[in-house]
Amino acid sequence: MQASDFVSSLGLCKDVVVHEATAFASANIALIKYWGKRNEALHLPTHGSVSLSLGPLGSTTKLSFDKELSNHEISINKRKLLPEDTSYQQINRYLNLFRPSENGSYRLISSNSVPTAAGLASSASGYAAAAKALNELHGWNLNTRELSILARLGSGSATRSLFSGFALWHAGTLADGRDCYAEDLKLQWPQLRWAVALLNDEPKAMSSRLAMKVCQETCGWFSRFVELSKGQLAQALEAIQDRAFARLGELMELSALSMHAAMMGSSPSILYWGADTVRVMQCVQHLRGQGMACYFTIDAGPNVKILYQQSQENELRYALENLDVKWLWVNPWQF
Ligand code: PMV
Repeated sequence: MQASDFVSSLGLCKDVVVHEATAFASANIALIKYWGKRNEALHLPTHGSVSLSLGPLGSTTKLSFDKELSNHEISINKRKLLPEDTSYQQINRYLNLFRPSENGSYRLISSNSVPTAAGLASSASGYAAAAKALNELHGWNLNTRELSILARLGSGSATRSLFSGFALWHAGTLADGRDCYAEDLKLQWPQLRWAVALLNDEPKAMSSRLAMKVCQETCGWFSRFVELSKGQLAQALEAIQDRAFARLGELMELSALSMHAAMMGSSPSILYWGADTVRVMQCVQHLRGQGMACYFTIDAGPNVKILYQQSQENELRYALENLDVKWLWVNPWQF
């Protein structure tokens, strides 16, 4: 099934009910990673995942529909995307799924408060904000579960960006993905914080979409990685319920390292880390050896995110700010 067939099956009304709609969505960082698809066109994952949001960091998207416009106009961070840009083509395909008629196109203006395409989940918050704005522009009145399904058609990890705090993404089993949605765990853990090392804000050499495909098709132990991830997810959900920080942190590191090991075991081998990535990872492990409870995770890029508890913020800031790295200190519970 193609994404367009799925959207048609929803029978969404094509009318535009407001002149312009603006929406915000937080970026999210997976504690247990999504990496692998059971259906490529619908972005249905091989296994479930759980994330914690980046609170005030995310995307704000303004959307309108102009009957005079022949092609969608897309701007991100004040830069108008050109039709030959890969990101234009992806967003263009997404908007075409909902286009009301052959006459006219959308105008989408988005700004990210996280660096674009540097493994900091800006596409996740971008598609989630776009799904929310589409919902308002067309007056669909969809709930967050339905919106998470629409956001997924743009990018898998966008499914988890409709929520603040923890989001659990169910892999589902149905072919059309109606049971593949994310939900708010509705569980507060106000002590949790992110420290994000901004090591490189250049767009990455290989998109996560392509890297995931290459990895799934060529890594010799990919199916084992999927089985291990399922177990890690079940254990992470228990650790969250129990507010067991060290257990959650260990599982988070294991999930990220297993994902990167699978990438490295692909053909061609995929390595997103730079020397600074390894330096920060080793620093985190060193600090843990000294009794500081902090754990890292890395997505499809060189940047490292550290999970810690607010009670250790002063000590951690002191230790990390010595590293000659730019840090973002983020409270996931602040909106
Ligand atoms: O949603 P995509 O296609 O950008 O995939 C991103 C996957 C990771 O960020 C690497 C992991 C995750 O669960 O977010």
